[in-house]
Amino acid sequence: MAAPQTEALRADIGGLVDRLGPGRASLVPILQDIKRRYHEIDAETMQVVAEALDIHPVEVYSVASFYAFLGSRPQGVHVIRLCGTLSCDFAGKDAVAEALRRELGVEFGETTADGQVTLEWASCIGMCDQGPALLVDDDVHTRVTPDDVRAIVAACRADQRRADA
Ligand code: FES
Repeated sequence: MAAPQTEALRADIGGLVDRLGPGRASLVPILQDIKRRYHEIDAETMQVVAEALDIHPVEVYSVASFYAFLGSRPQGVHVIRLCGTLSCDFAGKDAVAEALRRELGVEFGETTADGQVTLEWASCIGMCDQGPALLVDDDVHTRVTPDDVRAIVAACRADQRRADA
């Protein structure tokens, strides 16, 4: 039996599909609405949306990850985005996530006190066969191990330039 929060999520998404229509064209407005309500679009949500619209989850992942990049929250000089989607999950993303939290001293969705690094989840970034995968700004890192995290974070801390400067 599904967890209560999953049932609530299904009901919410079902309501959105009723309101916006069951077609593919509803995908973006549904994701926008979910983002407004829940402030994030996690893997479970994407799965439920895919089922509700009868489309492949990968389609939802790619649209949702595109929108994640448009986030309007203030961000650090560098942004590390760890893929939290299924293949990377199976490849060991939890251990990498823990190493990132420990090394940076922040949770996902937060920025270090010095404003240097923001840590975020990403949806699939297209490197599913080489997970765990993460982005440092626009640079892709694949097969990341917890041991790699120290060097990745050190490089971010050492580089004071804004990625978009
Ligand atoms: S599942 Fe992580 S890159 Fe595709």
